[in-house]
Amino acid sequence: MSLLDDLKAIEEQALIDLENADSLETLEQIRIAITGKRGSLTAAMKMMGRLVPEERPVVGKLANEVRANVEAALATRKLELEKAKLAARIDAEAVDVTLPGRYLPQGTQHLINQIREEIEDIFVSLGYTVEDGPYVETTWYNFTALNAPEDHPSRSSKDTFYVVDNAPEGKEGHVLGESDVLLRTQTSGVQVHTMEEKKPPIYMICPGTVFRPDTADANHLSQFTQVEGLVVDEGITFGDLKGTLDHFCREIFGAERATRYRPHFFPFTEPSCEVDVSCGVCHGAGCRFCKNTGWLEILGCGMVDPNVFQFCGIDPERYTGFAFGIGVERVAALRYDLPDLRMLMTGDMRFLRQF
Ligand code: DAH
Repeated sequence: MSLLDDLKAIEEQALIDLENADSLETLEQIRIAITGKRGSLTAAMKMMGRLVPEERPVVGKLANEVRANVEAALATRKLELEKAKLAARIDAEAVDVTLPGRYLPQGTQHLINQIREEIEDIFVSLGYTVEDGPYVETTWYNFTALNAPEDHPSRSSKDTFYVVDNAPEGKEGHVLGESDVLLRTQTSGVQVHTMEEKKPPIYMICPGTVFRPDTADANHLSQFTQVEGLVVDEGITFGDLKGTLDHFCREIFGAERATRYRPHFFPFTEPSCEVDVSCGVCHGAGCRFCKNTGWLEILGCGMVDPNVFQFCGIDPERYTGFAFGIGVERVAALRYDLPDLRMLMTGDMRFLRQF
């Protein structure tokens, strides 16, 4: 077969192949097979050197035509395939603006935060400020300035999370309980911060998280919420304490619930008491919920001990005051008759949505 025939056959086959190419990748393979270094057309062109001189112009002309035709066909097919590819992509990525929006499940405010805000509202409406304090405290704020003696059991690492190894330099290791830095076990330390920063009259509350190494059970959590309260002014009496906390209990639990003040001991108040509200399940008759007492404890309180005033640089001859600490989870449990405090920590929406 002559080179002329070869060239025509190459062209014919090339045009068919190009027409059938269904992707840019196959098109590129076809191009390489024809005009690439080892392509069929390239090979045919190389053969021209062996022709007798008079044949060269004719074969050369045809070779150029074949090359031009093949390249033109390649370019056309390439354009078509590119267009098709773009169209397919536009199709695939199209946004259907008529589709309805996607439903995002809505959360609700957590019961603990609801109650905390409610308590805040009650005291803010009485003219109290809302203060904030650090979760990580020193023993000074959490114990010492609150009149807790050095050997008070709540300072032990069984009752307090100590968080920093501050063993003296050169001394290796660290014994829990020797640290000065801890996760606060009560919000009462904010009393000290506030009295250090502000002059009386002070009317403040401080809501916040506190931590204790307790194993969680129906009545205990290792992390829970308190609202601390502190009043410092001239002429404050136990009557002010009782009037204020009775008002608070009525607002939170309703006028029909009774309150009871039981003597107790706290290092930072004297006298001190715990306040109970009458059981909402049995209304005082006695039931399983109130362990047959008819009463449920909700807060601790008392008249600020003069020692605490002295630690904080306030004159105990001139000022008196009262303080209290409310357990927020406890208030939630008593108000909604929750059988187990751990329900508040599970994040179960079926439970949380009820409130
Ligand atoms: N800090 C106490 C506790 O965690 C609660 C408390 C009791 C706070 C009496 C007070 C108070 O301010 O006066 O058990």
